[in-house]
Amino acid sequence: MSHAAISQSISIVHPISLSHGKNAEVWDTTGKRYIDFVGGIGVLNLGHCHPGVVEAIREQATKLTHYAFNAVPHAPYLQLMERLSAFIPVGYPVSGMLTNSGAEAAENALKIVRGATGRTVVIAFDGAFHGRTLATLNLNGKVAPYKQKVGVLPGPVYHLPYPSADNGVTCAEALKAMDRLFSVEIDVSDVACFIIEPVQGEGGFLALDIEFAQALRRFCDANHILLIADEIQSGFGRTGQRFAFSRLGIEPDLILLGKSIAGGVPLGAVVGRKPLLDNLPKGGLGGTYSGNPIACAGALATLDAMTDAHLKTWGSQQEEAITRRYHAWRTQGVCAYLGRMTGVGAMRGIELVNADGTPASKQLTQLLELARDAGLLLMPSGKSRHIIRLLAPLTIEPAVLEEGLDILEACLRQLA
Ligand SMILES: Cc1ncc(COP(=O)(O)O)c(C=O)c1O
Repeated sequence: MSHAAISQSISIVHPISLSHGKNAEVWDTTGKRYIDFVGGIGVLNLGHCHPGVVEAIREQATKLTHYAFNAVPHAPYLQLMERLSAFIPVGYPVSGMLTNSGAEAAENALKIVRGATGRTVVIAFDGAFHGRTLATLNLNGKVAPYKQKVGVLPGPVYHLPYPSADNGVTCAEALKAMDRLFSVEIDVSDVACFIIEPVQGEGGFLALDIEFAQALRRFCDANHILLIADEIQSGFGRTGQRFAFSRLGIEPDLILLGKSIAGGVPLGAVVGRKPLLDNLPKGGLGGTYSGNPIACAGALATLDAMTDAHLKTWGSQQEEAITRRYHAWRTQGVCAYLGRMTGVGAMRGIELVNADGTPASKQLTQLLELARDAGLLLMPSGKSRHIIRLLAPLTIEPAVLEEGLDILEACLRQLA
């Protein structure tokens, strides 16, 4: 199919046209089947066309397809916020708002933070990804391609190294950089918030250092700074728990949600400490489509399916299969470029590196093509696009997961 009417600034990883999907499998318009380890970039933790989500959308579409909540409230929005506030594993009363996307959630969080603190400085992290809108671009800890050719971005934003066993940056190194930032660059009393992914997505599936997360929480408390956790990619069961911040033993002040929140229907959210959400003037938050009833119905069905027991089983099954196969590949030496396995739970990355440890980005591009030809869709991540991110639906059938990992192994063996 022609791409002539589509902006050439949209980068396409796999030049095929999808026709339909079922759980962890998709078919293109020629009828070719693929196992989907991309999941619409982390949107399909419940798989393609989850029956509960489809039924909820279908039913909602016969009742009320749209109403702008800020004009007239509707039941699905109210029900969802009630369910969501109970689903967020924190000890404080939760309030929030719905958005159309992850970036819109991040944008609104920045406004909420300004309203609550009267401060503007944001500290983000190297390798971070928070969106493609003008303000979220500046939060990203990566220039190319996101920040190129767009000029001056809304700020002020500063970046710190992201400490993780997966990238070799230690807690001490990150704390030292923080110390330097506040003695050389900015006054700590001007800082409104830190924004951090508990497991970096685009950055390469790097799991945040727990000691650092706890030190950061203490630092924020001591300096009246808010802590935002971006759970847009790591949330809704991807790491085997509802949200990845639980692994860190901290409670963020605001949490950003998106992607798998609604089983494939566009939806995002900002949730957090109730008093923080109420500082902007009436009308300061909202949006025509934000919290559309059909999206809310998809999210309610998603929450029905995401019991803690399911999340634990799905997460551990996928984690076990991936780690078992990865370690076997290492032992058997199936691929000279096979580097570290990153991440936690079912949020796993597999790094490709050259003999000298430099990123093997060329080989990863080759791997994406080989795998696609063999019927497996993969997605790159990391600063140098050298880390495969594994985002198969959590509901993937064990045999399909093994089949996908067999294809991955066969393709790794072919890398030149
Ligand atoms: C951690 C994180 N935050 C924010 C976003 C932006 O979400 P959206 O693409 O829905 O705007 C993404 C998207 O990949 C993400 O992974």
